[in-house]
Amino acid sequence: MTLYRATVLDVPGDPFTDGPDALRAETDAGLLVRDGVITARGPYAELRAAHPGEPVEDLTDGVLLPGFVDTHVHYPQVRVIGGLGMPLLDWLERCALPEEARLADDRYAAAVAEDFLTGLAAAGTTTALVFGAHFATATDVFFAAAERSGLRITAGQVVSDRVLRDELLTDPDRALTEGRRLIERWHGRGRLRYAVTPRFSLSTSDDLLAVCGELLEAADGVAFTSHANENLREVDRVRELFPGSDDYLDTYDKHGLLGPRSVIAHNVHVTDAELDLMARVGAWSSHCPTSNASLGSGLFPLRRHAEHGVGVAMGSDVGGGTGFSLVKEGLQAYFAQQLLGPDGLPLTSTHLLYLITRAGARALGLDDRVGDLGVGKQFDASWLRPSPGSTFATNLAHAEDAADALAKIFTLSTPGDVAAVWVGGDLTTASGGRP
Ligand code: GUN
Ligand code: FE
Repeated sequence: MTLYRATVLDVPGDPFTDGPDALRAETDAGLLVRDGVITARGPYAELRAAHPGEPVEDLTDGVLLPGFVDTHVHYPQVRVIGGLGMPLLDWLERCALPEEARLADDRYAAAVAEDFLTGLAAAGTTTALVFGAHFATATDVFFAAAERSGLRITAGQVVSDRVLRDELLTDPDRALTEGRRLIERWHGRGRLRYAVTPRFSLSTSDDLLAVCGELLEAADGVAFTSHANENLREVDRVRELFPGSDDYLDTYDKHGLLGPRSVIAHNVHVTDAELDLMARVGAWSSHCPTSNASLGSGLFPLRRHAEHGVGVAMGSDVGGGTGFSLVKEGLQAYFAQQLLGPDGLPLTSTHLLYLITRAGARALGLDDRVGDLGVGKQFDASWLRPSPGSTFATNLAHAEDAADALAKIFTLSTPGDVAAVWVGGDLTTASGGRP
């Protein structure tokens, strides 16, 4: 057992329905961790008195947050972060897809997987829903690296059978065989799970989407994820390609792909009818604000999601997004709502912490295990320690209250302030360890 001593901030409720009081903040708290699980939580002095013999990890010169949950991120794109100046379809053609084709080489794929997992953990992310490669072997290589990293990863082979360059295409039979093999090998193994992952309807025929429906039934708890409603040209082309579908999400729903384990990335140009459908089936949106801004996709309609009762979590969308930091994504989510004026939903720092932790755990069906630092949860945590003398350190020290301290974290901290990351009580090797 270990007794962690820290200032702890987490959001065990839902501030969109419960209000900003959902923030739980304790200074000089104690968290007792046994076999990776938090078994007691309370004032440090009380826990210390009750457990005088246990080793203590003193984290009082920083702030302890739940590990971040990234619900949309592409492993093959880690080396193309920073491709600025293009809208989505041009960026895919010129930036993302040429790099993704390089993962046909397994050795290259293995190196990219290491870069990706190192970047993810270093930013404080402990759980992620990850787009794999178009190649089964490169996806297999990724799962193996993810298992070694100790992170909680849900991922899947990305499938497409039209529009993209030939090397990236599959066919329905092959997708079924390869998908089944990957599910058998990796789904439910340790902290890993499988997600059926058509790239987007634009590059996926009805026959291939039908195979995705079959794969979703292959084992209990397999997730579904894809892109939708990101860019207006994309939405128009999907409408032309699927004349028999009511709208973008109907192309997935027709094949039984939408449900409580579904995460739709972007969803900027979603219609009210689609939001009704999502609310009915319990599907989630992954909001990726730096990507939406960088690719000029648009401002996310968070207020309409909330009004329809559709759950929203956050994604970094590396490499369309600008890095792994979910703290940065949280700040950008706040900016996007400010820029929407009366159509925006003003966000507090509590909303932002919820969005990058508990919301993602709920979207992935993992909220019984992770997302906050309550008793019974896994000890998945990110410890932020500001550099002494930095503006972040000074402003954090002068914060008026916990919500204000959290606002300082979102505005001023960077991945360089993430000093340690634990998953299931283990210090992740990928983070480089605690300095
Ligand atoms: N739509 C289809 N593929 C992609 C991708 O790789 N990134 C983003 N942002 N949108 C997509
Ligand atoms: Fe994406």
